[in-house]
Amino acid sequence: MNLSGRRILLIIGGGIAAYKALELIRRLRERGAAVRVVLSKAGQQFVTPLSVGAIAGQRAYTDLFDPASEFDVGHIRLARDTDLVVVAPATADLMARMAHGLADDLATTVLLATDKPVLIAPAMNPRMWAHPATQRNLARLAADGIATVGPNAGEMAESHEAGTGRMAEPLEIVAAIEGLLGAARPLAGKRIVITSGPTHEAIDPVRYIANRSSGKQGHAIARAAAAAGAEVVLVSGPVALADPPGVKVVKVESAREMLAAVEGALPADAAVFAAAVADWGIAQAGAQKIKKGDGGPPQLALAENPDILATVAQARTQRPRLVIGFAAETEKVVDNAKAKLARKRCDWIVANDVSAAGGVMGGDRNTVHLVSASGVESWPTQSKEEVARALVERIAAALGG
Ligand code: CTP
Repeated sequence: MNLSGRRILLIIGGGIAAYKALELIRRLRERGAAVRVVLSKAGQQFVTPLSVGAIAGQRAYTDLFDPASEFDVGHIRLARDTDLVVVAPATADLMARMAHGLADDLATTVLLATDKPVLIAPAMNPRMWAHPATQRNLARLAADGIATVGPNAGEMAESHEAGTGRMAEPLEIVAAIEGLLGAARPLAGKRIVITSGPTHEAIDPVRYIANRSSGKQGHAIARAAAAAGAEVVLVSGPVALADPPGVKVVKVESAREMLAAVEGALPADAAVFAAAVADWGIAQAGAQKIKKGDGGPPQLALAENPDILATVAQARTQRPRLVIGFAAETEKVVDNAKAKLARKRCDWIVANDVSAAGGVMGGDRNTVHLVSASGVESWPTQSKEEVARALVERIAAALGG
């Protein structure tokens, strides 16, 4: 595969396999990739910044607090100005620090700051590889969406011990890189509108009605869709989450504002309505703060809000090819979702059980059922990130990506 124009950030950890990283740089550059290298402190015990710099054709980065490097690109740009981050060799220590989200040197800081796909090529002594702690860290990293190549079985360079722990060969790592870069963008060229978070319905200038939605699931879908190459507009109610990188975020408060922002973001190939939109707003919000007068508590008359999902699903013009709703249910989850699919005339409903026992609202995990005209699929309980990635895969397949 021709990798011209593709940017790869290679992090070289400290292990005897670091010498193979030099050949990996060469193989990537032969294919046209631009390779930037971060050398960990331990990595520098095995290869020098000078040799790496000569082979990469640009200086190697080594220190988090190196004023020259911060001036030059800085750790955040190192993390972002790339198409893929590769860690080779990934030592047991580096994997453990990644699994725990540490950021105490340049390599781990870049790994924590990146929003790009990450591939690790583990290399270590077979006993260290087989240790439950390493296997636990590996599972954690896989759940975070990090891809792995190797390690292979064979004799170890340092100890003549046989077993699994040898770093994958440079050409195997290149193949894994090509796989990730090729397959990673199934939504390239597609535009997706996503709603997320709760809405706030004003009672008066200082008070509002809201709900317990955190926006975690909707934001995760936006992040996954952007990572898959889509152009994403995220229309978000008030949330305490960072804007997902590479996504256009439109911030709104009320259901009416959300509808206007969604309509303004069309046309799109797909729309995903993950927001917990208030069904009712206050019929007449006070222009001034309502005072505690003698009249007793105010009677708040409610007025029905527009149904954004149903409006878009039933639009005569600019209906996205794929309109996906969510159903937050506390009982008869699948039956209610089927009824909602028919009533709102959307294409799919992602139904989740939000009864208090599940801890979905505000939590990090989700158990969902994908309901469409062709049936019901019940997915295993997984993280909201995993639900997002799985949903994005299905969207890509449906849109022919
Ligand atoms: N939705 C919307 N606009 C609304 C209400 C809901 O776009 N005013 C969307 C939500 O984003 C979600 C789906 O509709 O994708 C289902 O919302 P939900 O509140 O669960 O369903 P309701 O239509 O409110 O039905 P019910 O009150 O019977 O649960």
